[in-house]
Amino acid sequence: MKLYIALLAIAAAAVVQGQEGTPPPPSVPPPVGATLIPPARCKRAIQTCAVFDPSTNETTDVDYDHCLQFCCGSAVVDRSTDVVCCGNEVVGVPYNTVTQVCCNYNHQYAAHDLADGGDFCCGLNAYNNTARDLGCCVGYPGDPQMFNVFTEMCCAGIVQFAGDTAYTSCCGDTSYDRRTQSCPCQIPVVAFIPEKDASCCYDSTMSVQTPYNRSSEQCCNGVAYTVDQFCCAGVVGDIATQFCCGNEITAVDPAVAG
Ligand SMILES: *[C@@H]1O[C@H](CO)[C@@H](O)[C@H](O)[C@H]1NC(C)=O
Ligand SMILES: *[C@@H]1O[C@H](CO)[C@@H](O)[C@H](O)[C@H]1NC(C)=O
Ligand SMILES: *[C@@H]1O[C@H](CO)[C@@H](O)[C@H](O)[C@H]1NC(C)=O
Repeated sequence: MKLYIALLAIAAAAVVQGQEGTPPPPSVPPPVGATLIPPARCKRAIQTCAVFDPSTNETTDVDYDHCLQFCCGSAVVDRSTDVVCCGNEVVGVPYNTVTQVCCNYNHQYAAHDLADGGDFCCGLNAYNNTARDLGCCVGYPGDPQMFNVFTEMCCAGIVQFAGDTAYTSCCGDTSYDRRTQSCPCQIPVVAFIPEKDASCCYDSTMSVQTPYNRSSEQCCNGVAYTVDQFCCAGVVGDIATQFCCGNEITAVDPAVAG
């Protein structure tokens, strides 16, 4: 049994060594537009690439042999091991899948050497996210922006300093600290009421929306009122000088009030 396992290990090592510099086994098809296709398996075919010449701004149809070359970013590129197109035939750059990363955003493409940084793409840039502290904030308009997920927030595509994201939320495109602020109405206005005390006061048509402190205030048809006030058929009155009679606010008679 032991001998059998040892033999297996030797065989496995031989396979790994044998792979170096040899084409992938036939069962694994090469990726589209990809690495050198061994002539034995490549049926020679002439294809056409619309090649752009930046010095003249002219585009010319150029024939190429797809066994030896590929069309990438309006250029004909010689095939080599691990090199594929980052992009497409019209827009893009060749890149090495082993040593580079291909970033794409908004129909644009960029290749970056892994040695220069990381493999975390945000927009067309690549970052080192080994520490897993980066996020990508994608918003329109404007290009995606990298941000620190522990200290910043991405709210509607805008990066904000948040201090401690454990306590932060987004209110539209603005971040706020839930300990001192809130966003109780579905309108992007930050209220200076802690989230635990905050509610939204709506009027009967839902068009008026006022954040209020439900620990100290009440809601009267879109208006927040305090313990010194009352709500009379949707209108706020003042307890000291008014009262509510038949759904009308009536002034307290000075003689009665004394
Ligand atoms: C090519 O087009 C670009 C952008 O339209 C322009 O800036 C450049 O001057 C043009 N070059 C030539 C050679 O026409
Ligand atoms: C990425 O950052 C880590 C430390 O966070 C570092 O060890 C590593 O070398 C960096 N990688 C690159 C390619 O710069
Ligand atoms: C909300 O009401 C509570 C209870 O009266 C009070 O302690 C708190 O300070 C109020 N918060 C604000 C922001 O007004």
